[in-house]
Order: sequence, then C-alpha cells, then structure tokens
Amino acid sequence: MDGNGRWAKRRGLPRTEGHTAGENNLAEVVRVCATRNVGWLTVFGFSTENWVRPPAEVKHILSLHKRLFGRIEELNANNIRIQWIGRPFDEPGSKTPAFIQRAIQQAIDDTAHNTGMVLTVAFDYGSRAELLRAAQHARAQQHSGLDITSQEITNNLYSPELPPVDVVVRTSGESRISNFLLWQIMGSKVYFTERTWPDFDAHEIDNALKLVHAN
Ligand code: FPP
Repeated sequence: MDGNGRWAKRRGLPRTEGHTAGENNLAEVVRVCATRNVGWLTVFGFSTENWVRPPAEVKHILSLHKRLFGRIEELNANNIRIQWIGRPFDEPGSKTPAFIQRAIQQAIDDTAHNTGMVLTVAFDYGSRAELLRAAQHARAQQHSGLDITSQEITNNLYSPELPPVDVVVRTSGESRISNFLLWQIMGSKVYFTERTWPDFDAHEIDNALKLVHAN
C-alpha cells in the first residue's frame, strides 16, 4: 500500500495522516473487492524491514492495525474472514507487540465463521524470512534423505492455504517487486498505477482485475 507518505506530503500533512487515510481506504477497498467476488485479498501492512521507521510513525501504524483488526462488525457484515501472515509470535525474531497479537487473534476468531473473501494481513512479514523458515521446516521433516520438494516448501509457508496470486497491485508509481509473497507470485500479473494508496479506488480495482483474464 505504497504512497501514504507522499499522499500526505502533497497536502502539507504529516505522514501519519497519510497512513490514517490509507487505513480508511483499505476498509473501502475491502468492501469493493468483496462485491467483485474476489476470493482472496492479501495486503502488506507492515514488513520485517519497517521497524526501523521513526518510533512515532511505527506507533501510529500499529494503532491503525489495531483499528483494522477491530472492524469486526463490518467484516462480518461482508462475510469476510481475517487471516494473518508474519513471523510467528512464539518464534525468535518475532517483533509483534502483545496488543497487536491479541487484536489479530481476536479478529481471526471473530470472523472464523465467515465464508466469503479471505482478507490476509501481512504484519511483521517478510518473504525471505518466510521462505528460510519454510526450507528449515521442510528439511527438519525430511526422513528419507531426499532433497526437499517445491510442495514441501509450499506446505510450510505461513499460510499454506493461500492460493497462488493472480494479480499483484503496486501503487504510487513503484515499479519494483518488494519482499512480498515471492514464492506465491510466480506467474502472477502485476498492475502498476501512479495512484497513491489512499486514492486507490473502485475504478483502479476493476482495472487490476481485468489483468486476471487478459493474455
Ligand atoms: C506505505 O506507505 C505504507 C506502509 C508502510 C504500511 C502502512 C499501511 C497502512 C497504515 C494502510 C492501512 C493498512 C493496515 C493493514 C492498517 P509509505 O509510508 O511507504 O508512503 P511513501 O511511499 O509515500 O513514503
């Protein structure tokens, strides 16, 4: 969800206001995606690299995650199930504070019965950390002495149920791939837009979804 900072700067606002607008827009994007029959929406909320941002900004982004995970009524009204991917709380390196852990667990429990879109939030997530861990787990499960397989890596990802990605959305004019779902995006389409995340709207969603069926 790139470009919250730039969105705020253009308006002479502090970066934190951009993140607040980004969280509001995420709630709207989630609603629109649910009406478009998107089965799985995965968003990069906070990366393993984001912890070095100024403490006040980190604190603000964490509070926005708490707000997002607290939108239970809206999520239930739209039949949306929450999931999370990131460094497991009880493993070395995990940095998720206890209040976010609780908010995540509560949201997962309170939306577990929903059967519509799955909204997966990546928090304290990095694809390299995920893949290293998957390889280590796959190796530990090996009894045969054979090499580990692609399927065994997939089985040991944070969320093995997450299907291969159809389309990656990259906002705010960024043209690079970052540390996000590197295993899962093999073969996926990429939708690039100049729009900053708070301005990413239904029209943009429809343009991105058109790529799914394009050649
Ligand atoms: C990127 O904008 C956004 C983030 C680092 C993550 C924070 C995202 C939100 C708060 C949106 C709401 C999402 C959740 C899950 C609560 P940036 O800071 O990189 O902006 P810039 O590229 O313009 O500097």
